[in-house]
Amino acid sequence: MKEKSPKKSTEEIAAYLEAIFNAAIDAIFTIDEHGIVERMNPAAEQLFGYKASEVMGNNISMLMTMPDRQNHNNYINRYIETRQPRIIGIGREVMGRRKNGTEMPLRLAVSETMLEDRRIFTGILHDLTAMKEAEAEIRKLNQDLELQNDRLELKVNQRTEELSEAVNRLLSLNQQLVREAEERRAAETALRKSEDELRKALKKEKQLNELKSRFVSMASHEFRTPLSTVLSSADLAEAYTGGEEHQEKRSKHLTRIKTAVGTLTSILNDFLSLSKLEENMVQTQAVKFKLKEFCDEVEDEMQGLLKPGQHIIQEHENCDAQVFLDKQILKNIIYNLVSNASKYSDKGKPIFCRLRVVDKVLFIEIEDKGIGIPEEDQPYMFQRFFRANNVENIQGTGLGLNIVKRYLNLLGGDISFISKPSYGSVFSVNIPLTKSKLN
Ligand SMILES: Nc1ncnc2c1ncn2[C@@H]1O[C@H](COP(=O)(O)OP(=O)(O)O)[C@@H](O)[C@H]1O
Ligand SMILES: [Mg+2]
Repeated sequence: MKEKSPKKSTEEIAAYLEAIFNAAIDAIFTIDEHGIVERMNPAAEQLFGYKASEVMGNNISMLMTMPDRQNHNNYINRYIETRQPRIIGIGREVMGRRKNGTEMPLRLAVSETMLEDRRIFTGILHDLTAMKEAEAEIRKLNQDLELQNDRLELKVNQRTEELSEAVNRLLSLNQQLVREAEERRAAETALRKSEDELRKALKKEKQLNELKSRFVSMASHEFRTPLSTVLSSADLAEAYTGGEEHQEKRSKHLTRIKTAVGTLTSILNDFLSLSKLEENMVQTQAVKFKLKEFCDEVEDEMQGLLKPGQHIIQEHENCDAQVFLDKQILKNIIYNLVSNASKYSDKGKPIFCRLRVVDKVLFIEIEDKGIGIPEEDQPYMFQRFFRANNVENIQGTGLGLNIVKRYLNLLGGDISFISKPSYGSVFSVNIPLTKSKLN
């Protein structure tokens, strides 16, 4: 073993260290306690551009920049005094100054070495220029990136704003469209409604025209008999020029004239009532009155219209209280039904007029012992102009029952009947009684 690792001589060790010192890539300096450069390697020469001979023996601060250049000796002195290392064994970045005056960043590591009688400091310096440049480059790139980021963010914000504006515009446009669509729909509905109304009005107009022309043909037929009666009776009454002996004849013809005029008046009244109903001109006007008194009034008025020997038999039940109704319409209803009862029954026959109030409903029954209504005609009795086949020789318009039915509609009431040919008919009416505002 001993032969394999023979102890090296001092010269050999010196040469070994010298070789390492010379071949090192980093710059190496040794200085004494006063900062005087004792040695420097070729890498140091290369780094600073000085020949070793130009530096050795001079203060190391010649290779430094301010403020280290000025303070370097103080650093060493303070260290020797306090033994508090600021750099030794720690290392730090410093600035170096080349022979040509340019400066460079360096990594400095310093170590202290005690020789037999004195101490020296060794500094190893590594050029940081490339690293610093790379760092700067990175910093710049980062800055550029940040700038780009900022720009991008700005652009994104701007685009976002533009987009939200566009979205808002779209939303308001959409709202406007919805509004317009609604308006159009409303206009369409209104148009359709007015079209409907127009069509209805036209239909009504047509119905009225038809009614009028039917009335003209009916009137020309129905008017002929009473008018010819008026004419012939007037002629005859005129012919009886005698005194007392002709008086009876004259008054007979005058009565005929009166009856004929009455017939004409009732035909005209029917038509007038119907026209008013058709044009919705009839409005109910309720008043407060006593039913019993009202019936006596109507009976009195109708007495003159009855055939000889006919009389109205009134039967009342619970009719003492006051009612609140359209008196004129009620009179019209009873008038129509009683005049039918009289017209379609013989002389001397009774006409029953029954009235009763039950649970706030007025029931009226008009009964006669007359010709009755053929069964096959009964379904059509309330139609306009309809007349049963057994009344051909009795004057009439066929409007009365239709008018009655329509009046009852206005009062919220209704009508029905039972009839048997040759026995008679009973017409039944019901009218709800509203509470009087006067009560
Ligand atoms: N009390 C009644 N008895 C028999 N027939 C009736 C009676 N009331 C109505 N009618 C029948 O109903 C028809 C319609 O009556 P109405 O409308 O009053 O018309 P008008 O009396 O002018 O003919 C009459 O033509 C008749 O045929
Ligand atoms: Mg009638």
